[in-house]
Amino acid sequence: MNPQYRFSAAEQSNFYELVGARRDCRHFKPGEQVEAAQLQRILQAGYQSPSVGLMQPWRLLRIADAGLREALTACVELERQATAAALGPRSDEFMRLKVEGLKDCAEILALVLAPDDGTVFGRRTLAAEMALASVGCMVQNLWLAARVENLGLGWVSMFEPAEVGALLRLPAGAQALGLLCLGAVDEFYPAPMLTLEGWREPRPLDQMMYTDYWPDGPERTSHGN
Ligand SMILES: Cc1cc2nc3c(=O)[nH]c(=O)nc-3n(C[C@H](O)[C@H](O)[C@H](O)COP(=O)(O)O)c2cc1C
Repeated sequence: MNPQYRFSAAEQSNFYELVGARRDCRHFKPGEQVEAAQLQRILQAGYQSPSVGLMQPWRLLRIADAGLREALTACVELERQATAAALGPRSDEFMRLKVEGLKDCAEILALVLAPDDGTVFGRRTLAAEMALASVGCMVQNLWLAARVENLGLGWVSMFEPAEVGALLRLPAGAQALGLLCLGAVDEFYPAPMLTLEGWREPRPLDQMMYTDYWPDGPERTSHGN
């Protein structure tokens, strides 16, 4: 696209609608496939994401082996149980939530932080954080592209990274950061599922945006769980 192109009001409005309609999805239609061209467009969107020093620290492993999918799903189930145990009084409530769609989604893309390539530009002081932030930017592009393709995407991060790393045969220094579930969905939740299920309300924007200095007050209160 011509970088000088100016977006029309209608296109701007479409973009904001897209941002608002993006959801983390955990309910997928079983037995559906993602078209190769669609997947390619989504991956290309991820590829165009920003990264510190143009480091591009992410890698994606497309899971094709059914046995590997099962083994990864088992890792997530173990961590789901451990998370429930760690939640104490909210354990039962947590166990009723759907926190992954690994069995039914069309594609699983394992998200990996690549071994550090030594990029210094932009990360002399915050090396680990800026690499991770760059991976997050990439996933957001995937999320938006999936939504515009009318496909759901869910980021599953509940697993023991060493176990998933061993299953994926990651080299030293690489770190599994997610199992991205992609595929057709029956519907997109109208709001974050954690809100719909009564787990957590989003903080209002005006409580997260300050001028000049960190305020006294709200941030001292824990949001809980
Ligand atoms: C880094 C990251 C990890 C996440 N891991 C999980 C997860 O393991 N399981 C899950 O159900 N949702 C996971 N989510 C999804 C969040 O719960 C979700 O983004 C949030 O509730 C807001 O909902 P929305 O994305 O639909 O707006 C993750 C999201 C992010 C950004």
